[in-house]
Amino acid sequence: MDINVPLDPSTHQILDDTRIKAISKTLSELDEARVVLGSHQSRPGKDDFTSLEPHANLLAQYCSQQIKFVDDVIGPHALEKINKVQQGEILVLDNLRFCAEENIDDKREKLVKTHFVRRLAPLFDLYIDDAFATAHRSQPSIAGLPELLPSAAGRLMEKELDAVSTLLEEPKRPCVYSLGGAKVEDKIPVIENILSRGKADKVLLGGVPAKLFLLARQIETKIDDGEIRDFKQFLDRAKDLTEKYRDHIEVPLDLAYEDKQGKRVDRPVSPTRIEQEALDIGTKTLEKYSKIVTGAATTVANGPLGVFERNGFGKGTRELLESMANSHGYTVIGGGHLVGRAATRMRMANPLA
Ligand code: 3PG
Ligand code: MG
Repeated sequence: MDINVPLDPSTHQILDDTRIKAISKTLSELDEARVVLGSHQSRPGKDDFTSLEPHANLLAQYCSQQIKFVDDVIGPHALEKINKVQQGEILVLDNLRFCAEENIDDKREKLVKTHFVRRLAPLFDLYIDDAFATAHRSQPSIAGLPELLPSAAGRLMEKELDAVSTLLEEPKRPCVYSLGGAKVEDKIPVIENILSRGKADKVLLGGVPAKLFLLARQIETKIDDGEIRDFKQFLDRAKDLTEKYRDHIEVPLDLAYEDKQGKRVDRPVSPTRIEQEALDIGTKTLEKYSKIVTGAATTVANGPLGVFERNGFGKGTRELLESMANSHGYTVIGGGHLVGRAATRMRMANPLA
């Protein structure tokens, strides 16, 4: 499962439980099985890298089964609890990425040899993958276990694949993608794929991908060390995409910064580097992007357009979601943080939803 959710980085309070709710359909169909649930929360070194105990507690609200939790992954304590799970119970293992090997991203031949897979696989009859949002990671729990166990897709995976197939086969045109967030390494292959296969008319960029593609056009913004892994490789790929598909890729016209009083101030992008971190797309960019989205028959959004959790800098992300909601097109929203934002918006519009 993927119950990696947005958390408050200092209190670790769960800010949105959409992903936890979303797996309940699969779990309800497993009510006669002995179920062990594995997932991750964030990555080692990040502020929101933490235990899954609060997730397990919340899951109890959405399932009829009894939920148990073990603060271990492949140690003796976990193995003992796994062996004792009863029919109709769900045992939630702790954050799988607490186990060093789960953070390996490698070929399946390597993954099956990990202690993670060798210890866990013999304890199970069947593997079910309902972790659509993690399915692109070649990690032991995702790509190693199903090598050794009969496996199936869960209901959420089925639903997500249906939605994505429509997008990748015959999306209604014009088809627009809004891509932001922090993980450039995940967004570049998406842009390459949809543009080379002619499946998108426009790609609107925000967040860290916008900074990279601005740089590909010789517009330098402040990019923190470590913000983009393997920087040179991704900059080259961004330059190549810009050269081939310039008219399809929209970069911000202006960006939002924080002034000395802590207020938001928009500045047009310019070749002169501003020594301050941009925290959102600017208002002119937002107007342009909103217009494009309003006229689209299909819109796909993945990743926030700015640091929305900072006061005043959620405007770009929030208002573009509003435009998507108000458009008559088919809209797909992906990624835990952006889905969290959209869910909050829907609850505000309809508190009973
Ligand atoms: C996500 O939220 O993107 C998924 O849970 C995968 O997490 P990851 O990008 O840290 O592998
Ligand atoms: Mg992701």
